[in-house]
Amino acid sequence: MIRFNLIVAVGENFGIGYKGDLPWRIKSELKYFSRITKRTNDPSKHNAVVMGRKTYFGVPESKRPLSNRLNVVLSTTLQENELPEGVLLCSNLETALKVLENKNDVENVWIVGGSGVYKEAMASPRCHRLYITKILHKFECDTFFPAIPDSFREVAPDSDIPLGVQEENGIHFEYKVLEKQSK
Ligand SMILES: NC(=O)c1ccc[n+]([C@@H]2O[C@H](COP(=O)([O-])OP(=O)(O)OC[C@H]3O[C@@H](n4cnc5c(N)ncnc54)[C@H](OP(=O)(O)O)[C@@H]3O)[C@@H](O)[C@H]2O)c1
Repeated sequence: MIRFNLIVAVGENFGIGYKGDLPWRIKSELKYFSRITKRTNDPSKHNAVVMGRKTYFGVPESKRPLSNRLNVVLSTTLQENELPEGVLLCSNLETALKVLENKNDVENVWIVGGSGVYKEAMASPRCHRLYITKILHKFECDTFFPAIPDSFREVAPDSDIPLGVQEENGIHFEYKVLEKQSK
C-alpha cells in the first residue's frame, strides 16, 4: 500500500488560504515547503505533489508546475490540455495514488492541499505524517484546515527541521510533525 504525507501551513484560526492565495508571505517557509517536498533518499528518484485545482492555479504562474516534483492535479472539470505537459490530471485521490503506486521513479507522495484534499487524505489509512507549520498569528482567511483526527500525535521532527519558534518579518511560526499512531 502506497503511503503519503501531508504538508500545510496553518494560521491560529486554522486558516490556510485567502482569495486563492496564501494569507501570508513567509519566504523561508516557502523554501522549507520546497525542500521537504523535494527531499529523497535515492537521488535518482523524485517526489510527487498532489493538489486540488485551486491550489495548483493559486501557485504563481512562473512557479508552476512546482519544480523537480511530479505535479498531480485533482479535478473533475479540467481537461488535460489546460495543464502543461508532464502535469498529471486525476479525477480523484484514489486514482492518483494508484497511478503513483506504479511509478518506480517516485519516492514520496506529498498531499499539498487544499481543504477537501487534506480532509480526504487525513481520513485515509495511507496517511502517515502531517508536516504542519503553525503560524502563530491570526490572518484573514476564507479557506481552512479540517479537524485533525485524534489518531495523529506529535512526534520529534526530522533532524533537518529547524526547532523552536522561527521568525520572519515579525511573523512567528513553528514547524511540527504529527504521525498516525498504530492501534
Ligand atoms: N497554507 C497552506 O499550506 C495551503 C496549502 C494549499 C492551499 N492553500 C490555499 O488554499 C486555497 C485553495 O484551496 P481550496 O480548498 O479552496 O481548493 P483546492 O482543494 O485546491 O481545489 C478545489 C478543487 O480541486 C478539485 N478537487 C479537490 N478534491 C478533489 C478530489 N478528491 N477529486 C477530484 N477533484 C478534487 C475540484 O476541482 P473541480 O471543481 O475542477 O472538480 C475542487 O473544486 C488557496 O487559497 C491556497 O493558497 C494553502
